[in-house]
Amino acid sequence: MAVVGIDDLAIYVPRLYIDYKDFAEARGIDPQKLEYGIGIKKMAIADTNQDPACMAANACLKLMQKNHLHPQDIGRLYVATESALDESKALNSFVIGMLEQVYGEGTFEHAGGIECKFACVSGSYALHDNANWIRAEENNDKAAIVIVSDIAKYDIGSAGEYTQGAGSVALLIKENPRLMAFDPKVASTVIKNEYDFYRPFGKETPLVNGGYSNLLYLIQVRKAFDAYKEKALKTGLIKLKEGEAITDYIDLFSVHLPYRRMGEKALAYLLRHEWRHLPRWQHVIKEVGMDEPTPKDPRGTIESILADTQFMKADEQFRRGFMQTSFYNEVYERKMASSLEASTVIGNLYTASMYMGLRSLLEFEYKKGTDLTNKRIGFGSYGSGSSAMVFSGLIQPTYKDVVKDMDLDLEIGPRVKLSIEEYERLHRNERGFSDAVTNAQREFVLVKVGGSTADKAGFRQYSYVS
Ligand code: COA
Repeated sequence: MAVVGIDDLAIYVPRLYIDYKDFAEARGIDPQKLEYGIGIKKMAIADTNQDPACMAANACLKLMQKNHLHPQDIGRLYVATESALDESKALNSFVIGMLEQVYGEGTFEHAGGIECKFACVSGSYALHDNANWIRAEENNDKAAIVIVSDIAKYDIGSAGEYTQGAGSVALLIKENPRLMAFDPKVASTVIKNEYDFYRPFGKETPLVNGGYSNLLYLIQVRKAFDAYKEKALKTGLIKLKEGEAITDYIDLFSVHLPYRRMGEKALAYLLRHEWRHLPRWQHVIKEVGMDEPTPKDPRGTIESILADTQFMKADEQFRRGFMQTSFYNEVYERKMASSLEASTVIGNLYTASMYMGLRSLLEFEYKKGTDLTNKRIGFGSYGSGSSAMVFSGLIQPTYKDVVKDMDLDLEIGPRVKLSIEEYERLHRNERGFSDAVTNAQREFVLVKVGGSTADKAGFRQYSYVS
């Protein structure tokens, strides 16, 4: 079977941001809650002339330019997003239109692709569908590009407001990739009809059941991880010895990151699940200093577990204790911490958050001097509504060619801090496209929505500012 995976990736992050201290002061929140409880210092905010389509096109153009790719090299261009601009017209068609302003009209005509939607998990489905397209040799020697692009926008004053952000990641999927090859036959999913987070038609901000969505994320990823484990053992990808956990064979973790702290909690949940039946657990329990609590009804629903307040309180106490142990911290520092750096200074990117995490992991592990060759990354992707996908990949010996030039600060560029008043004006959409805060440079921007006649309603025009 062909070796397929991620050859390279490029990011685009809007340069506007709000600082957590200003935000905390304006909302009367303890800044320590944002810095430590959530794990956010800066939230990227889209300018008036930026939308998920032009951010996606900007990330894609960077990816193509740095790899000297021509449209003829690309057979598929997918965009995964939960910030759709049209009920029918796919977001990738806008991106193609923008790219053809640079590469020439009709240069992508031979290619294909769709917009994918399933909250924050759809990018992972898009990656695997395209990897399989290449494995099936339907690709005529061409590569695929998957772009994940979103603006996370919540109501002013809501608990979700401090988990906002904006940005895109474009991923190049190829045979014999330089960066990471997907482990074959182990990608695993779960799916269930849920209402933890959703955005009904016409509504700009989501309806969120925050606590429920947190727990559902943990449970769904754990279930997908169990399915992954079954496949990894069955295919012989991982062979467990007595007393070992599958997480021992995952060298690095990259998980869905609505905010930094959620990544830390997801790791804690997964390790507890994997370790509690192993001999090492008694040493963990000794260090935590309390037994692990169990719910009144261990086979109950998420609602019944959440309603079991006694258990929830005890479990929170145990989880906090566990996250302080040397056992957790050793794994956290070695396998996850680097993936959370970008989230702290950018915020939530919905579909793009886990892939920005991957980017962060690669850059900061490289800067630490870690040899990543043949290291296995385990991914825990979650989308509300809800579905989770767990998969893994091996970092290739050629990874340094791609990672050595990664520099988050340089790539975001000089950032502009918004006052809370300016941010709120942008949030209420009070400034028009022609009244952008920043001066665009070498990027696509939105210049017009709608035309002079009714048949041009919703018509979006973009321009490349050189
Ligand atoms: N100093 C330090 N930490 C503090 C603090 C303080 N003064 N005050 C509170 N905290 C901590 C809490 O203990 C908690 O930490 P823990 O998770 O380790 O227990 C954390 O800050 C969050 O506070 P909490 O009050 O539990 O939650 P919240 O009401 O602020 O809501 C979300 C947090 C994430 C639920 C909310 O922002 C949200 O709904 N976001 C959108 C949905 C989402 O992202 N879901 C994720 C799954 S996809």
